[in-house]
Amino acid sequence: MAYFKIQGGNTLKGAVAISGAKNAALKIIPATILGNSPSRISNVPNISDVRKMEEILLSIGAKVNNLNNELEIDPQNINSVAPDEKLVKKLRGSVVLIGPLLARFGRAVFSQPGGCLIGARPIDDHLDVFAQLGVKYYYKDEKYYFKGKPRAGKVILRAMSVTATENAIMATVLSEGTTTIHVAAAEPEIVDLADFLNKMGAKITGAGTHEIVINGVKSLRGTHHEIIPDRIEAGTYLIAGIITNSEIEIGPVIPEHLDLVLKKLSTCGAKFKIYEKDNKTFIKTFKHGELIAESIDTRPYPGFPTDLQSPYAVLMTQARGECTIFETIFEGRFRYLEELKLMRARVEIENPRSFVIKGPSKLIGTKISSGDIRGGAALVLAALASSKETIISDIEYIDRGYDRMDEKLNALGANILRLDEILEKK
Ligand code: EPU
Repeated sequence: MAYFKIQGGNTLKGAVAISGAKNAALKIIPATILGNSPSRISNVPNISDVRKMEEILLSIGAKVNNLNNELEIDPQNINSVAPDEKLVKKLRGSVVLIGPLLARFGRAVFSQPGGCLIGARPIDDHLDVFAQLGVKYYYKDEKYYFKGKPRAGKVILRAMSVTATENAIMATVLSEGTTTIHVAAAEPEIVDLADFLNKMGAKITGAGTHEIVINGVKSLRGTHHEIIPDRIEAGTYLIAGIITNSEIEIGPVIPEHLDLVLKKLSTCGAKFKIYEKDNKTFIKTFKHGELIAESIDTRPYPGFPTDLQSPYAVLMTQARGECTIFETIFEGRFRYLEELKLMRARVEIENPRSFVIKGPSKLIGTKISSGDIRGGAALVLAALASSKETIISDIEYIDRGYDRMDEKLNALGANILRLDEILEKK
């Protein structure tokens, strides 16, 4: 198992390049199988979740050519509707392959998808969507068996689930007639997926709102698409700049994707500016005075993203006063708090959905472990702001969603060593 050894206290300086959005890549890659010719995807983040999704496509017979940050995917020779069980179990996002498989082949065999331990994370909302589209399914020996081409019509989501919305879109782009998805999630990554599909020839309107309309088309062709910048990675580095009271440039970004995050950070007393350079947008952080605590509650987009709940909470350990963090999306996303407490943060967990932070606290590095992508990244930020050395184990979680986080931070002047327990024991 790999771990980070981090010496905190350094001021950061320079520019950090933001990679393509993980949660857009993880849907656009499976969406390529809807085409009748190859697609080329640019700005693909170099993260292990994307590598797993590539392997899943390989397991059903797609050809995948990995050219650094670009993927060429040829879906013409797909010969299976049952992606590799072990891979599916490792990646929650794999659930979004069911929609495209049903649209193209009218069948799919899937095990319960796995992923980070951040709550119950069932797939009942997806099953409900497929049932509304007339797809039959049964569950046997830990696998779901789906049968039937999705029928166009009205779909009402039970909750604003991001991946269930994406599955509903991909399941119906090739269905004859008009589908309307009500109570749809509106995250920017869904808009990026719809943009990609429209370039392939789909007719989708309303992505980014809570009602999406899909006019089915007969076929889709391969295309080229560049993935949007990752708003969560950008938000994480923004907080890295603020927590170390440093001047760093973060970009490219689409600042509207971070509206509420920027507003909350500015209310706390963080200093930054947004500017254009070479037709792209960047954010630069500046030195600030005392930070003041500000409560948040996580909500579906455009609310405060659950994926920045933990980095923001770590920042609040450095702010004066008391604030409440209320997590409305996932009920199990507080594992990192026990680690943060070991670093001397003052945290009181009220219930599985909310906690109070009292600050500021002098964080002191110690041995901790990462339990999920975002919690792990948040602990890296805590380590940057703490005195003494911090050892963070299980960094595989961080690698799932952050493109070389240690290298990017070291290029800004952080002191992070990536080490491997197994190699050391030899
Ligand atoms: N839910 C159900 N049943 C379902 C699906 C979801 O009860 O069938 C529940 C979930 O357990 C959760 C809530 O509904 O409590 C919201 O889940 P949602 O379906 O919106 O989340 P998701 O689609 O599984 C995506 C991202 C997450 C991100 C959330 C919220 C991907 C691959 N994952 O998950 O990203 O936190 O939306 O924005 O797109 C991450 O990047 O670290 C991450 C966890």
